[in-house]
Amino acid sequence: MTDLVDKLYKDGCLSKSEFTELINSGDKYREKLRALAEKLRRENYGDDIYIRGLIEFTNYCKQNCFYCGIRRDNLNCRRYRLTSDDIMSCCRQGYELGFRTFVLQGGEDAYFNDDRICEIISAVKGKYPDCALTLSIGEKPKESYQRYFDCGADRYLLRHETASKEHYERLHPESQRFESRIECLKSLKEIGYQVGCGFMVGSPYQSAENLARDLLFIKELNPQMVGIGPFIHHSDTPMRDFKDGTLEMTLLMLSIIRIMLPKVLLPATTALATIHPRGRELGIQAGANVVMPNLSPVSVRKEYQLYDNKVCTGEESAECVRCLKKRVESIGCRVVVSRGDSKNNS
Ligand code: 5AD
Ligand code: FES
Repeated sequence: MTDLVDKLYKDGCLSKSEFTELINSGDKYREKLRALAEKLRRENYGDDIYIRGLIEFTNYCKQNCFYCGIRRDNLNCRRYRLTSDDIMSCCRQGYELGFRTFVLQGGEDAYFNDDRICEIISAVKGKYPDCALTLSIGEKPKESYQRYFDCGADRYLLRHETASKEHYERLHPESQRFESRIECLKSLKEIGYQVGCGFMVGSPYQSAENLARDLLFIKELNPQMVGIGPFIHHSDTPMRDFKDGTLEMTLLMLSIIRIMLPKVLLPATTALATIHPRGRELGIQAGANVVMPNLSPVSVRKEYQLYDNKVCTGEESAECVRCLKKRVESIGCRVVVSRGDSKNNS
């Protein structure tokens, strides 16, 4: 008899009610989903795990998401900006360590206007033409996205956070519109970026149906990357009292996404590593094929705190990479020196 997992594998998707059932079914399909996702990861990417060097270059942010530790109204957050020289020196270190993708991530910081962002993109791509550059700097007008792309940015990460408008509105103040988030993702795709969307697992008020909608949204957008990790409360935010997302549900989502989009670039996130000591390894065994260690200077690491107890904030980049390689090898995979482009070109 065929079950929901067989159907998901065969069709690459399920209906909303079937996804909801799968999500609610607890242990019933867990191992079957995991094993299938791991098999598909191997079929598409072998034992290769891609690394991305994350450079958190500013924690100033004009947005005020209720869950996030660097939200505008968090006055306990010590703000910093890296200089262009700082950023270039992160890249230099990263290149030596074998990184061929740099991710420039930051809050929505008006200081970094389009001219400044373009200058940074040109400098990085000029010095490291064999590397991919990913931006993760939030919502911008389409013209800005186009300018960054024309300067050489290859990829853009913008999590949709939730595909349900009513849920989006509970996680964000009124000034932040669900529609504009979705519009941004469409623009990024139209321009030709490799695009990543994503969401938090176990975010406040999230229902199984919300998650089902996230999956349907991802199927429709067909992004090259999907970033998901558990929600983890931050004690200086309005959502400090909500429960954290679970390891089990995050792994289940990773596996479903791998099965839906077999070629997708799927990170085992730092948030996952934060809620379980072997979170990243378990994420890879559930279908993830990317890890994104931090290249930011250790002096500012602790300041980029989206949630409490974030791991790897004390380690030098080189140490972190060594540790990661060991972890990846402990489960029969290997970290490769590669841009690690998506094999999904549509
Ligand atoms: N817990 C987990 N993830 C978070 N993010 C922001 N705040 C938190 C939190 N408290 C995620 C969001 C955002 C990404 C950069 O980090 O999904 O898009
Ligand atoms: Fe960063 Fe282990 S992965 S210290």
